[in-house]
Amino acid sequence: MCGIVGYLGNKSAKDVVIKGLKRLEYRGYDSAGISTLQNNKLEITKTQGKVSDLIAEISTGTHTGGLGIGHTRWATHGIPDNKNAHPHSDNSGKFTLVHNGIIENYQSLKQLLSDNGITCKTDTDTEVLVQFMGYLHQKEKLDFIDTVRLALNQVVGAYGIVVLCEDYPDMLIAARLGSPLLLGIGKDEFFVASDSSPIIEYTRNIIFLDEGELAVITQDQYEVRNLSGNEIVTKEIEEIEYNLDEIEKGGYDHFMLKEINEQAYTISEALRGRVNSEESTVTLGGIYDWIQQILDAKHIYITACGTSWHASLIGSYILEELLNIPVKAEYASEFRYRETAVNSDSVVICVSQSGETADTLAAIRKAREQGALTLGIVNVVGSSIARETHCGVYIHAGPEIGVASTKAFTGQVTIFNLIGILLAQKKGCNLEKIKPIIDDLDALPGLVQSVLDQGNEVFPIAEDFMDVENFLYLGRGYQFPVALEGALKLKEISYIHAEGYPAAEMKHGPIALIDDDMPVVFVVTARGYNKIVSNIQEVRARGGKIIIITSEENAELQEYSDHIIQVPDVSHCLQAVLTTIPLQMLAYHMAVLKGCDVDMPRNLAKSVTVE
Ligand code: F6R
Repeated sequence: MCGIVGYLGNKSAKDVVIKGLKRLEYRGYDSAGISTLQNNKLEITKTQGKVSDLIAEISTGTHTGGLGIGHTRWATHGIPDNKNAHPHSDNSGKFTLVHNGIIENYQSLKQLLSDNGITCKTDTDTEVLVQFMGYLHQKEKLDFIDTVRLALNQVVGAYGIVVLCEDYPDMLIAARLGSPLLLGIGKDEFFVASDSSPIIEYTRNIIFLDEGELAVITQDQYEVRNLSGNEIVTKEIEEIEYNLDEIEKGGYDHFMLKEINEQAYTISEALRGRVNSEESTVTLGGIYDWIQQILDAKHIYITACGTSWHASLIGSYILEELLNIPVKAEYASEFRYRETAVNSDSVVICVSQSGETADTLAAIRKAREQGALTLGIVNVVGSSIARETHCGVYIHAGPEIGVASTKAFTGQVTIFNLIGILLAQKKGCNLEKIKPIIDDLDALPGLVQSVLDQGNEVFPIAEDFMDVENFLYLGRGYQFPVALEGALKLKEISYIHAEGYPAAEMKHGPIALIDDDMPVVFVVTARGYNKIVSNIQEVRARGGKIIIITSEENAELQEYSDHIIQVPDVSHCLQAVLTTIPLQMLAYHMAVLKGCDVDMPRNLAKSVTVE
């Protein structure tokens, strides 16, 4: 979602902020802005559109100096236009602020401001917050720090903010509640950002702000306090784990293509040091101390959003199959508001690439409150979900920049297999059941590479169907979530309407859609083979176009299909990793052929940190 960058140091703040905003473009946005403070004067430039449009708006000779903040906005309150873009300022022009999140009580604050003669100029909740700061500053005669603190203590909602005040030419204040923010600690310079990508070029030393914390940064020091008690908090400096080249395209046309092609490597990273195939064992340090408690659980819930939810659905099948206990996967947005039976006998697993998705975060908070043990399967190291769960397993897929999640998904499915095997073994499961999966895990990176090597085979399919308006994806068992994921990938980046269904459900409604123009993708594996072949026949009989992704090689499927893509056959629990890749490729090629912005699809954000 929205991106924040702040800088205080001896470099040009404008250069650091603009470069940082470019690094944050992947998160999705519709407008951008910058504010700098020099000679006790705040300068603001903002515009609807891309960071390149912002650069074009900045006049030469402006925004000099070493203190500045910038923002990429993804509209929530108010349409994307110049006026609603951040930074926002109060009517006195003293304060300027960038904000991620939502101020829920902005209506009542706006009323209070209006009652005191202060009129807002924009439609945003963010402007209300900065106007409120200006109002408090004047009314209570407070200094900069107390103004921000007092204002935030009266705010209901979520925020990651960075604020400048004209009277404090060497101070930057950042605060967080519900929206991630981190500080970069350089030599004689400091950075603030909503993720580490704008910082890594300058320093690897970072501090994660925790919920309800406020950081005051001046030329030569920083101090973190909690907002409620105003006590100083000692923060640990942590190190960014990835390298700069991991957040660059590295010769690929798009981040999505790069990330699809990285999957043999990212899966080997997910497995590294965790599987001993000779002894048929799995080690997962992040859940080691909690294994017995997990095994004692009466039920397991898995909760996530979007693609991570599709991986969760596969995870629920894996865990239920290997552990023989009830496992339920549920959208985090439903789970968090529903009356669930979660209690101290429950384990709640949260799956998230970013580790910052608002609904998933709220779901684990609810689960913790209800006494459950929480376990995170997360990609971004140090993210909120990783920090707030009792235990967890990192995916180790490296930064995922493309908005459409690819390598995180296959990593998540791989991790579910590791967790399933480990728990099943500890439960005393028969080695015969586990050994084939361990052997396949060993071979998995190579098998993924073989599927990637035949990636261009989907290109003719993309060419044939790039002009259709609808697509249907059908699968059974483990391949049903794969069908959902294939359909999601297609719709989000190529804007073609696509539905994923369990193949047998077709008869209960979607079959009405089948005509000569309808392409139907079937994901076919050995399990349920005859049943899905019957579904293929039903589509053929109605003239639908048939695309088959399969681990089975036979003349029957060749005959029935308009296009067929073969992937290697592996254990059922792992098959989704291989069948998903051609579907990622298909979506990619369709989107490119249609001229869509693959890495930044319209209306989408990489990390959904608001509800
Ligand atoms: C789709 C996609 C989204 C995310 C969802 C959850 O390609 O990327 O559906 O999967 O927003 O995000 P995370 O995994 O960061 O919690």
